[in-house]
Amino acid sequence: MEPVKVGLLGLGVVGEGTARVLARNAQEISRRAGNRIEVKSAAVRNLGKAEALGIEGVALTTDAMSVVDDPEISVVVELMGGCDFARECVMRAIENGKHVVTANKALIALHGNEIFQAAQDKGCMVAFEAAVAGGIPIIKAIREGLAANRIAWLAGIINGTGNFILSEMREKGRDFDDVLAEAQALGYAEADPTFDVEGIDAAHKLTILASIAFGIPLQFEAVYTEGISAITSEDVSYAEELGYRIKHLGVARKSKDGVELRVHPTLIPERRLLANVNGVMNAVLVNGDAAGPTLYYGQGAGAEATASAVVADIVDVVRTMTADPHNRVPHLAFQPESLSNLAPVSQDAFESAYYLRMEACDQPGVMADVSRVFGDLGISIEAILQKEPAEDSSVVPIILLTRRVNEGLMNEGIARLEALSSVDKPVVRIRVESLG
Ligand code: NDP
Ligand code: HSE
Repeated sequence: MEPVKVGLLGLGVVGEGTARVLARNAQEISRRAGNRIEVKSAAVRNLGKAEALGIEGVALTTDAMSVVDDPEISVVVELMGGCDFARECVMRAIENGKHVVTANKALIALHGNEIFQAAQDKGCMVAFEAAVAGGIPIIKAIREGLAANRIAWLAGIINGTGNFILSEMREKGRDFDDVLAEAQALGYAEADPTFDVEGIDAAHKLTILASIAFGIPLQFEAVYTEGISAITSEDVSYAEELGYRIKHLGVARKSKDGVELRVHPTLIPERRLLANVNGVMNAVLVNGDAAGPTLYYGQGAGAEATASAVVADIVDVVRTMTADPHNRVPHLAFQPESLSNLAPVSQDAFESAYYLRMEACDQPGVMADVSRVFGDLGISIEAILQKEPAEDSSVVPIILLTRRVNEGLMNEGIARLEALSSVDKPVVRIRVESLG
């Protein structure tokens, strides 16, 4: 039997990892796929850099479209990143009747609806396991393993770079920029690392997870996104004193009003497994009505962990290439005509508990003022910490934990606190999730 010929678009961190895993485990992989898989060619921008990798038997080109248009290639594996050119290549591959595998979460989150429609019309597969949580087979788990369930919510640490930064800051007291530079050197970060630290990458991934969990179209613009760049070492240690860890969490929750989609730093009780997911590791907790809570853990970024997911997709594609397209697993888990238009819930209607930190004048009555603001609004305080003022300082840090409350009401509470003459602006707010 002729081997299935694959064309790689990109031979960077993930592309190189994919080529190496395919070569190293060729025998195991072909025993699983039922056919040999051969990388025929790879497109890059810098030929010299790619040649230096010493990957044998793969023709290199700087013309990605020549790979996409090559009639011998049946599977195009897009590992370049970015949206515009990647979208052009993927749409043309589909037009040419080729199957596509991609690790590009931005592409799927922003253009997935259009890409899947085109793929469905042409009977092509578009597989994207590597787009979420690196080596964890979370797409397959939700789309297939949990197909019996109504999923109420999911929450996950879905950016390896961000988790690596927060873990190193907490465990070793390292500086934010220094850890970010290490994450970039290790190949974890996006080409533009603000995508990692500002939560955009996690929002892309949450968009995909919410879609396959709830059977809704991809709607990236509906995700509320907050990054980790404003997290200070003080907040990390106050959180710890209160029995919490700060994690950058993506949360998707179905409510009576619609679907809540949010990415933000979050205090999680330290006894929860998610609070103990450190370094580049990712984890996703999924709450299904039949299975109950299930947790998926593994390396969230890096060459071979991500290649593991890319190659698994290639194997899936090779196994089902000859199957009737109607008998394949739908791209977004639900049959396309059965996707529902659950409305996104606005930020004001989110519900969560809160950690607040403020700098207040070291004078009598301040605590009473703060308590009155919350008492007037009916917001219950769960815990309160007042720290000693620093030497030569007349301000004291006050840290509060509240019970669950509507975000609109909390915004009002924070505005009233910031209006007090005894409290400095801004009041720091971090959401708290018990994940019970
Ligand atoms: P890299 O920057 O390491 O690699 C990108 C590759 O694409 C390089 O070989 C680059 O060539 C090539 N390339 C870029 N633009 C073009 C173009 N116009 N024509 C031809 N080749 C091009 O990125 P990563 O491997 O880190 O990421 C690739 C994708 O995988 C992204 O979508 C990313 O979000 C995703 N991903 C990354 C993970 C990770 O851990 N790094 C994990 C999960 C997903 P050259 O080097 O010559 O410029
Ligand atoms: N930059 C991403 C991360 C790569 O750090 O999680 C994996 O998607």
